[in-house]
Amino acid sequence: MTPYTDEADVEILEPKPVKLASNFEKIILDFARQSGKSLSLDLIRSALPQGKAQAEIEDIQDVARVCGLRIYELPKDVTRLEDEDVPALVQHNIDKFVVITRLAEGGQADVLEPEGSKEGLKLQEQAYSRNIERVYRIGFDSASLFSRWSWLLRPLEESKWAYGQVFIAAVMTNLLAMTTSIFSMVVYNRVLPNNATESLVALTIGVFIALLFDALIKMLRSWFLDGAGSRADVRIGEKLFEQLVSIDLSAKRDSVGGLSSVMREFETLRDFLTSATLVALIDLPFVVVFLIAIFVIGGPVVLVPAVLVIVVVASGVIAQPFLSKLAQESLEEGKSKQSILVETISGLEVMKTSMATREMRKRWRESLLAQSGSAVKSRLVSQIVVNFSAFAQQIAQVMIIVVGAYEAAVGNMTMGALIAAVILAGRGMAPLGQIAGLLTRLVHAKASFLALDRFMALPLDRPPSTRFLNKEKMLGKLEFRQVNFAYPDQQQNALQDLSFTIQPGERVALLGKIGSGKSTAARLMLGLYGPSSGSVLIDDTDVRQIDPFDIRRHVSFIMQDSWLFSGSVRDNIASGALAVSDEELLRAAEIAGVHDFLGDHPNGYDLMLRERGEGLSGGQKQAISLARGLVGNRSVFIMDEPTSMMDMGSETKFVERLSQVIIGKTLVVITHRSAMLKLVDRVIIFDKGRIIADGPKSILDRKNPAPGAPPTAMAVKG
Ligand SMILES: Nc1ncnc2c1ncn2[C@@H]1O[C@H](COP(=O)(O)OP(=O)(O)O)[C@@H](O)[C@H]1O
Ligand SMILES: [Mg+2]
Repeated sequence: MTPYTDEADVEILEPKPVKLASNFEKIILDFARQSGKSLSLDLIRSALPQGKAQAEIEDIQDVARVCGLRIYELPKDVTRLEDEDVPALVQHNIDKFVVITRLAEGGQADVLEPEGSKEGLKLQEQAYSRNIERVYRIGFDSASLFSRWSWLLRPLEESKWAYGQVFIAAVMTNLLAMTTSIFSMVVYNRVLPNNATESLVALTIGVFIALLFDALIKMLRSWFLDGAGSRADVRIGEKLFEQLVSIDLSAKRDSVGGLSSVMREFETLRDFLTSATLVALIDLPFVVVFLIAIFVIGGPVVLVPAVLVIVVVASGVIAQPFLSKLAQESLEEGKSKQSILVETISGLEVMKTSMATREMRKRWRESLLAQSGSAVKSRLVSQIVVNFSAFAQQIAQVMIIVVGAYEAAVGNMTMGALIAAVILAGRGMAPLGQIAGLLTRLVHAKASFLALDRFMALPLDRPPSTRFLNKEKMLGKLEFRQVNFAYPDQQQNALQDLSFTIQPGERVALLGKIGSGKSTAARLMLGLYGPSSGSVLIDDTDVRQIDPFDIRRHVSFIMQDSWLFSGSVRDNIASGALAVSDEELLRAAEIAGVHDFLGDHPNGYDLMLRERGEGLSGGQKQAISLARGLVGNRSVFIMDEPTSMMDMGSETKFVERLSQVIIGKTLVVITHRSAMLKLVDRVIIFDKGRIIADGPKSILDRKNPAPGAPPTAMAVKG
């Protein structure tokens, strides 16, 4: 890796250098090197917004995420750092950074500064210790970063103090809840017999204050819970999205609808973490405290509520497996429902013009029926538990009075104690009334959690444990060595024993019938999928060892289907590279032919597109995605039927303009159009996943094509 010396020395691939926080970038690079990780400057910059004067907390977290760096904020006082708080990134004097790498005795520390690493510094004596903005714990600690459940536990851990407050509040409200019963007991036993009106006033004021305090704490409690929940919510949501865009495509995974439904399960889990359910769950153990209080006041009377509590809890435990199974079922059904919905919405036009609506309507109705069936069963089970626990609570009240009356008659219990026991039992058993709702939510949250956890365990295309090779430059040599490949879940190989080499600067067309494996070969060149056997190499390095980010910035891949996102045309084109200047954008748009139809459009490049680029013709969409592939000064171009939707005039212009741009660069183009062949010198002909011909373009001109050559080979003459 080339050492970073100064902003000016760094090779900058973008025309407009990103100037912010160079100090930050340098520190992160140095820290990565010290930790034995290789990072590229461009990777860091990919996460930083342009033209921002200062790295904000969000930026730092974004950079951390992209680089696989674990980060969380610490208190600002560096003199009180503990061993487990280092390495610590210190942001000081607005946009300067150092990393404290090791703590030693007597307030000394090893510090990584932009100028280099220094040992045994006294932290208090450092100028920056007076101007600290923020301090973060950082580390490339992949084991703990990606340990199981960490996607959930870590964000929760960050909010542990808030959850701790919720717990303390729960203890206090439960204790305060005892005051009313004690109040009643004192009034019955002391005030009534003695006609002590003054004590009654004093007691009433006391109990009022207690109740007020109780209400306040309850309010604070839900506020804490909301705060903790929403913080964790953002963190977990970010992690899930990061996972979604990082999943290795070769891994077996759900359908689009399935994935979107798994993402939606997050809502269930989030509701659970922030809702009253959690409060009820925390309240549950306090039932025991109430039982103890009843025992203290009423002695053996406690047996009544104790037995009933056990019976209610047991009924919940018995119902639990049923509810759990039903929750799992409803999750699966939700998934299939969502899949049908997504599939239908994405094809509304086709749906309206074909008979497919019938089929989708039928599937939709089936999934609705299935889901409502399991919902009915689930409600039935939980209703049984709800009614049973309500019944048990009533019984408890009556039986306490019965047993209490007997105890009072024999003089074991005062009138006041009886009243207090009834009130305590009522309040103490209240959480049990929620046990059914609680169980239902709990099993749903558990099912969601497991679904999300499976999703989070899917392999990544950038696993944190892999050390990728960084490529600052790419010459553009592509090589397939005896590559076999089958798509996940497919029996048949899409590519069979494929071997060829494309030299830097060579221009090659891949030809062949549909389904012959051309697009698949292109996907493997980019490392989107890994070969089942054999290897795919770029510049003599295995594609899967090269940092995916480096592949994306050196290799332009224009896919067969143009995918545009909602936003302006400008945004869509500029998303092709890290920092795109207006000149570059315009140049790419001209080559791709975007300028031909947008040049005189009133909104021009600010034309807003809807999802998937709706609002444009197929050819226009294709032109925009071509332009996106042409920004960013790449050295390799892989184009999958780039002109399939163009008219001949546009295609001729495109070929002419493109031929200027690709001088000295590697071009691999998959095409069925003869005009595109002007760009290439060599053709490789595919059939059923194999190469059946490979040679100069002139092999297409042979009068008698080799037996078995695809019609394409004949059709593209001239
Ligand atoms: N995402 C996919 N999942 C499973 N099979 C696929 C996928 N994409 C393509 N295939 C299969 O791989 C074979 C080659 O497809 P492809 O490379 O797209 O052909 P083409 O030469 O037309 O570009 C086809 O038989 C197709 O059925
Ligand atoms: Mg194809």
